[in-house]
Amino acid sequence: MVQDREQWSSTLGFILASIGSAVGIGNIWRFPYIVGVNGGGAFLVPYVISVLLFGVPLMMLELAIGRSTGKSVVSAFQSIHRRFTFAGLIIVAVVSLILGYYLVITGWVLAYALSFIIGQPMAFDMFTDSYLPLIFFLLSGLTVFVTVRSGVRKGIERASRYLIPVLIAILLFLVAFSLTQPGAVEGIGFYLAPDTSNLTDPGVWIAAFGQAFFSLSVGMGILLTFGSYLRKESLFRSGIIIAAADTLIAILAGLIIFPLVFTSGLDPAAGVNLAFVTLPSAFIRIQFGMMLGALFFLMLFAAALTSAVSMLEVPVAALMDSYDCPRRRATLLVVAAIMLLGLPSALSYTALKFSVFGMPFLDLADYVFGTIGLIAAALIVAIVGGWFMNRIRICAEIGGCGWRQRVYMALIRYGVPAVLLVTLAGSLLRGAG
Ligand code: PHE
Repeated sequence: MVQDREQWSSTLGFILASIGSAVGIGNIWRFPYIVGVNGGGAFLVPYVISVLLFGVPLMMLELAIGRSTGKSVVSAFQSIHRRFTFAGLIIVAVVSLILGYYLVITGWVLAYALSFIIGQPMAFDMFTDSYLPLIFFLLSGLTVFVTVRSGVRKGIERASRYLIPVLIAILLFLVAFSLTQPGAVEGIGFYLAPDTSNLTDPGVWIAAFGQAFFSLSVGMGILLTFGSYLRKESLFRSGIIIAAADTLIAILAGLIIFPLVFTSGLDPAAGVNLAFVTLPSAFIRIQFGMMLGALFFLMLFAAALTSAVSMLEVPVAALMDSYDCPRRRATLLVVAAIMLLGLPSALSYTALKFSVFGMPFLDLADYVFGTIGLIAAALIVAIVGGWFMNRIRICAEIGGCGWRQRVYMALIRYGVPAVLLVTLAGSLLRGAG
């Protein structure tokens, strides 16, 4: 029996779910430190350009493919041409592999939130010397399982309807608090004072492209899958709203982090350690730190959870569409597989310290799947959609074939692949160096 395809209950529901997907650990933890090390406020120039010129067109393309085919990524690619089935499968594989380790980090976030709530924050070393990360990895897997199993409206959409407003409320509260701290001026200076000499450095542009694609969750078939549950909305307007919300939330997150780091006299350039080492020590040192820490990690958990849920929907919907498998069974099978894929990453930050080539497995997974795999997947989406899908069909989805749509098509066909190739080369060089 062919199942009726679910639809979003409203445009707002769809937009909130897409913001839920875009706003993740990448906004709150990765964006601020990337800005910090890439020239402060000046970095916003290449970043906003990447979002508008390359991120948004790719978002619209994905939504257009999903809505016009009414299918998730493997079946949608198959209906463009049979030979693209394998390309669709690659995307499903990449998203599943990313989700495997993303759930590990989601687990850390949950553990930190709880530790601040009970008033006993942990040091990262102590935490990862135990087997607690494994337990929290399982818990976050269980949470996404329950959400996605409940369906598009009752699961994914409902989770975002509750969590996104809570996330924004906590964010605004924390920004207001941070800005009243003694280190605020210095922190904002470090974060946003523009260093324009950086704009001539290609590395800064590559960092901006990579961060923009990652943060908008484009090129992973997520928006394509979400688009298959859409009816009439204007894709352009939705794309702009989602991108604007994502960027604004990322910028605001930095306004929380840097003032606190400066107020407690810690190192702002701590890079990847910023969220799990530097910030917790900042919270321990300031007044109301326990409550603020709890709020911060709860906010991060809401962000991570809604992103993880959107990633899970890609393989689940693919299985449902390709084998006419009921949602509940598809979710169970996919989550079981993803937990197995994520296990080595989970174990790499426990007492077992599972590593490969002297690198914790999770870091390797982040590089191979989360950086290289993600760019390759985005390239596949841009090429299959931009070059092989019927242009009239895309135009019909994005509001006609006027000059604006022509510019978008040109960006998708030439601009996006070119930028992705440069980013891929840059990331491979960085990995080799
Ligand atoms: N956009 C999410 C973030 O900022 C991460 C993500 C990447 C989600 C790729 C889905 C796909 O954290």
